[in-house]
Formats: sequence, C-alpha cells, structure tokens
Amino acid sequence: MNYLFTPFRIKDLEIPNRIVMPGLASFLIEDDGSITDKTIEHYRLRAAGGPGMVIVEACAVSREGVVSPHQARIYDDRFIEGLARIAEVMRAEGAVPAVQIHHGGRQTSSKVIKQKPLAPSPLPCPTIRGEVEPLTVEKIQELVLKFADAAERAVQAGFDLIEIHGAHGYLINQFLSRFSNIREDGYGGDVKGRARFAIEIIREIRKRIGPDFPLSFKISAQEFVPNGLTVQESIKILKLLAQEGIDVVQVSAGNDATPEWIAQPMFMKKACLAGSAGAIKKALNIPVMAVGRINDPLVAEEILEEGKADLVCMGRGLLADPELPKKAKEGRLEDIRTCIACNTCMESIFRRGRVECLVNPVLGREKELVIEPAKEKKKVMVVGGGPGGLNVAWVAARRGHEVHLYEKQQTLGGQLVLGSITGYKKELLSLIEFQKRQIKRFGVKLHLGEEVTAEVIDREKPDLVILATGSSPAVPPVEGIDKPIVALYPEALNTENFKKLKVVIVGGGATGSEVALHLTDNACQVTIVEMLPKVGKQLESMTRKVLLKRLKSRGVQMLTETRVKRVEDNGVVVVDKEENEMFLEADRVIIAIGTRPDNTLYEQIKSKGYEIHRIGDCLEPRSAKAAIYEGAVLGRSI
Ligand SMILES: Cc1cc2nc3c(=O)[nH]c(=O)nc-3n(C[C@H](O)[C@H](O)[C@H](O)COP(=O)(O)O)c2cc1C
Ligand code: SF4
Repeated sequence: MNYLFTPFRIKDLEIPNRIVMPGLASFLIEDDGSITDKTIEHYRLRAAGGPGMVIVEACAVSREGVVSPHQARIYDDRFIEGLARIAEVMRAEGAVPAVQIHHGGRQTSSKVIKQKPLAPSPLPCPTIRGEVEPLTVEKIQELVLKFADAAERAVQAGFDLIEIHGAHGYLINQFLSRFSNIREDGYGGDVKGRARFAIEIIREIRKRIGPDFPLSFKISAQEFVPNGLTVQESIKILKLLAQEGIDVVQVSAGNDATPEWIAQPMFMKKACLAGSAGAIKKALNIPVMAVGRINDPLVAEEILEEGKADLVCMGRGLLADPELPKKAKEGRLEDIRTCIACNTCMESIFRRGRVECLVNPVLGREKELVIEPAKEKKKVMVVGGGPGGLNVAWVAARRGHEVHLYEKQQTLGGQLVLGSITGYKKELLSLIEFQKRQIKRFGVKLHLGEEVTAEVIDREKPDLVILATGSSPAVPPVEGIDKPIVALYPEALNTENFKKLKVVIVGGGATGSEVALHLTDNACQVTIVEMLPKVGKQLESMTRKVLLKRLKSRGVQMLTETRVKRVEDNGVVVVDKEENEMFLEADRVIIAIGTRPDNTLYEQIKSKGYEIHRIGDCLEPRSAKAAIYEGAVLGRSI
C-alpha cells in the first residue's frame, strides 16, 4: 500500500499514517461522567492497533447538551483528569490523541437532561420528539463560550487535535441546516446566518487556543431530507469555516431524521460518502478526512490514491478489529475481523448503554475477556460449527485445550452461511472466514460431516462437551401446513427454485423480511404475513428503515396484525385483527416464524454424567451475537 501508511501533517502535527479512528461513542463512561479503567483500556487498545490518530468520542460541552447518561463530558474542569489519562495512553501507544467536542441540541431527551432540549428553532427532533426550547441570542453566546471552554480543557488534557462536532443532526448541524433552522434573526436565513453559530465557536476557540493548534470540523455534508444540507451548500459553509481557521474537515452525512446515513447499514455501498469527500477536497484548500463504511484497508487505499481524501476514518472497522491497521501494514489482510455493518454497536449504545459488537465479543469488555492459558489441559468436544461453536472452539484451543469440533454439514458457519446468501449480507462470509482461520491457527481438530450421537461421545470420552447445536425452523400448527406448496425459509434461500413466483411469507421478523428482499431479487412477487403490528421488529432500527424502504419500493405487500388460518393448494387463508378472512393466492408459501432450539443430543446425554455446556440457539434462539459472545465467555472459563 503506497498511501495508507505514509505520514500526514496538519500544521505542526505529524500523523504517522492516514488511518483515523473517528469519534465513536463507547459510552463506557460512568453516570457521573467519570472515565473508568474500561474506557482507558478501550482507547489504549484502539491506539495500539496502529491508526495514525484516534479521536475520542463526542464529549458534551454543556450539561444540557448530553444525549445519554453515559456520554463523555468536558463541561467542567473535573473531567480533565480522566480525559488526560486517555490522551496519555493513546500517545504512549503511538497514535495522535484527538478529542471531539459536542452539544446534542434538540437530539436528546428531557428525561436525560431534566429540561427541554435546546434547539435553534421550535422544531423538535423528528425521532425523539417532545418540546424543545428555541435558543435566545444570549443563550447562543453562552454556548459559544462553553465550546471554547471545552477546547481549552481539551488542550489541558493533552490532546493534539480538537474536532468540533458539526454533523449528525446535533446542535451545530441544527443551526447549519434549513431543515432544523427557521430563525429569522442573524443566526438563521442564508448560509452565512446559519453558519454564524459555528463561525463564532471557531473564532472563540481560536482566541483561546491560538492560531496553530489543529482544529477539525465534522460536517454532515448531505442530510438527505427536504431543505437539508447538500454537498454544494456544505462547500459554501466550509469555505466560511476555513476562513475562520479550521484546518481539516471530516465529511460525514445524515441527521436526526436520516441516521442510516450516519452509520450506514450493510445495504449501503462501502465508502458511500467518499464521493462527497472528494468534491469537498476539490473545492477547498484544507485537508479532508473521508468517513462512512470504509471497513477495508484496500478501499481506504483506493480513496487516497484517487485523491478523494487525505485521511480515511475507519470507525466501526476498529471496533470490530482494533488491530486492523497493524494487520494491514503487515500485509495480513486475511487476519482482519471485518466489520459487517450490522450496527449492533449503534443499537447497543442507546439500548444497553454501552458499546457491543456482533463480531468482536471483547469490545467494551477488554479488561474482563482476556485469554489466559488453561490451568489444566482438557479434551473438549464442541458439537456444532455455527458462530458460537466456532468461537468457543478456537478460544479453548488457543488456551491449550485439545479441542474437537464436530459439524454434521460439510461446511462451517451454521445460520451465518444461510444469512450470507442474501446479496447484501455477503460480508457475513468474512466473519465465517475469520473464525475458520482461527480454528486452523490454533489447531482445532475438525470433524466435518460427522453427526454426533451419544455413542460417539461415549467412544471419544471427552472431559467436557459443549453443545452448540443451534436451532431449526419452527412450523406453525395450522391446517394444510403439510401441503407441497409450503417450504421452510432455508429452502427459499438455499435453492434456485424460487424465481418469478408469487410467494407468501408467513412471518415478518428479521428472517422473513430478509427472505422477502432476497426473493424480490429473484423477481418474485411477495406478500409478508405478520402477526405483530410491525414487520422486521427485531431488526436494528437503521437496517430496518433501509430494508423496509427497499421492500416497499419493490412492491412487497406487508400484512401486519394478520395470521395464517389455513394453507390451501394454491395459497393461504389469513385473518386480520378484526377477524376478517382473506385468501392470498400463491405459488409457494414460505414459513419464517422463527426457530426452535435443537436439543436432541442434549436430551440423549444429559443424564450420562458428562460435564455439558450449552451455548447459542440451542439454549434459546437469538442472534449470532449472543452465540459468539457465549462462545467467547465459555472458551475463556473452561
Ligand atoms: C456506535 C457508534 C457511535 C458513534 N459515535 C460518534 C461520535 O461520538 N461522534 C461522531 O462524530 N460520530 C459518531 N459515530 C459515527 C462515526 O464516527 C462514523 O461517522 C460512522 O460510524 C461511519 O463510519 P464507519 O463506517 O467507519 O464506522 C458513531 C457511530 C457508531 C456506530
Ligand atoms: S457491531 Fe456490527 S457494525 Fe458495529 S462494529 Fe461490530 S460488526 Fe461493525
């Protein structure tokens, strides 16, 4: 790679290579805003993985600017010490320590800040809703000072670059955009008026930190909403901001109505914002950082080579594998655990108050989930080569156990293989490949195509048995379910039989809606029948939004609060919540109502006195994330 690992200079600051970890809320922060050893270890590991610069997650400049009780803060001197510890460990690991300063504006809840959220105009956040308090000029000027106070604290904490968060529909972005700013005073109206808040912040910061300290601005250059920012308007804004002294711009997208453009789900193309970064780079005289689904070092290299950016941000990529830069530099691309853009991380920060990753179970638990050599070597038999079985097998083998992994199919990966059949989920294959390489690397003995029975276990005499036997598709007890037009969802994914057909999918959860998308790729005409009020309810919200939009655009009919009463030879009879019956004609009926744990083997051996552990779907059908996590934990404890 000719570009990625060359240094880059912003003013006097030398960044050792072009990979930047952008601000990513880990929320590994205590409710009182204090930084813990977990936070430190999280950032130490990210820096140690070899990026040129790490930007610490959005730190609130003001108490009412906080978006979650777990958000990092910089609105008081008491936060300097914790932030300084992060800056210090990152510098010691060789990465430039940077920090982002932020105010949530209307994009927070009164439950979190115990007052009405502040906003440029009386327009509530489209997702959180609730009343907002439009800012007076006096209050705006107070906030300008708070941003500058925060910048001073960042310098005191030892950071080498400060980034102003002007993106993602937060307060500064709210001012910049006509979508959220309808003020008629000097802080609204034309580009200059809407940019005034940002300009005053930059001016005040410059006054405090001097002309030479590197300052970045993150912008959502495209908002994808009516009256929202476009690349052309963003260029006009950025020209004004550059005159005031920003040194580098990070080109992101999306706002509080279009979060799918903030952290782009797997449906979206890799590096989908690089074009906008390129346009901005051409129009401006300052360096540009590209961001957005750049999860592959080769893609990052291409962006640099094509001159679209000077630096590339890899955010989720470094959550999934902090060692990505190091591995890329050493040419070990196949060892990278690639981010699959599932957005479990985004969902977890808001739903669970801390960051978690589907492919990297260690994320956020770096101090708890260390791998230590086993005290006593054991013969371990793992049954099931799905995500959980694979993970437990290689972790146990890495610790020194003799591990035998049995899979009745000829291929590893379990449900992940099925999932990866749908075009947009192809990246799941990279997860299977990563797990397979670990299996090989740590010497797990593979038994493919071997079905394990109680007799096999008696013969092999393991010290312990780990059942990762997964689950099988559930079948609803309705009349006519045995008719030949009925198929279970794996058949619809696995075979070529479903082309240009009229199909009814029974079950509109994550699987049903993904199967629907796959079948529309094959020119099928699809109707989803779902008992709940929503289709795709279990899907992560951004993924769901994009998926449903796509299903609608392809004419998929979605019948919610509707259940199947009977299957006929040429369709199904369904009943809605008012008990109205309707006949839906179909060539095939696909059952996708979920799965049931497969515990056949467990029932056979549970009273035989073996030490047995169960992980993943055979305990209770859940996501691959749960299976991988359980495998990771068990592998470390046996
Ligand atoms: C869990 C999570 C937290 C994020 N937190 C921040 C943040 O604190 N500040 C910010 O500017 N962007 C934040 N983002 C957006 C990322 O910085 C980045 O713009 C986005 O994830 C796309 O880049 P990627 O595909 O490399 O992850 C966050 C994204 C995720 C997934
Ligand atoms: S949770 Fe999913 S999107 Fe987030 S870093 Fe991990 S793989 Fe990527």
